[in-house]
Amino acid sequence: MSNAAESATATTSSSFLRGRVASLLAIAPLGVWTCNHLWNNLSAFQSADAWEKSVTEYAHPLAQMFTGILVLVPLMLHTVWGMGRLFTSRSNVSSYPMWENVKYLVQRLSAIGVLFFLGAHIFKAMIEPRLKTGHGERFVDIAWHMRHHPPTLVVYILGTLAVAYHLANGIATFAMSWGLVASKASLRKSEWLNWTAFAILLAMSWGSIYAMWVAGA
Ligand code: HEM
Repeated sequence: MSNAAESATATTSSSFLRGRVASLLAIAPLGVWTCNHLWNNLSAFQSADAWEKSVTEYAHPLAQMFTGILVLVPLMLHTVWGMGRLFTSRSNVSSYPMWENVKYLVQRLSAIGVLFFLGAHIFKAMIEPRLKTGHGERFVDIAWHMRHHPPTLVVYILGTLAVAYHLANGIATFAMSWGLVASKASLRKSEWLNWTAFAILLAMSWGSIYAMWVAGA
């Protein structure tokens, strides 16, 4: 094999490996953590105290650091890989307007939405309150903003819509790219799984937002 062919093969296999790692990290720990985070936010229906305990408090500062690393490092790696995919892959939905191609395009559009939403969310809800007050976001603050600051409400509604679609559709593409679904029948089932996951993730997100909006009154 020539040197050029050898280096092309090495580049292809290392980008394949990067894709596999980024895809795996997107499901675990990132996707699993996202589901758990949305579930915890539902305690907004119980009380301010319950929400602060399950969303913003940690048993030990080390637990907080560990969670931060476990979530933020995979998020960073997946984002870098995802941005690369956004620039190197092209949607062909205008030439072939098929359902699968539409979903491929929306997966990428939702990735851009998730990127902006997470940038704002991580800064405003996680970093800024700790820098300003030394503790996590207070329920009264987030509830007040949901009720009385329309841009916050709109950003959360649209941002969580993008996260729900991106993760739900991502679970389906993950299952395909890892060979978990291949036959026509299993592809049909994965379509069903995709929309069920989307509905559950969206219901958890918008449910928590609604509970905060009500409490903000
Ligand atoms: C809560 C954060 C996120 C989660 C849970 C998540 C989850 C996922 C999952 C499960 C997949 C499917 C992987 C596969 O098909 O094997 C995926 C694909 C993708 N993600 Fe994310 N993601 C997140 C944030 C982001 C961000 C911030 C970007 C940055 C732009 C991004 C860009 C992409 C792209 C472009 C793809 C499609 C890659 C392809 O199939 O070629 N994701 N994501």
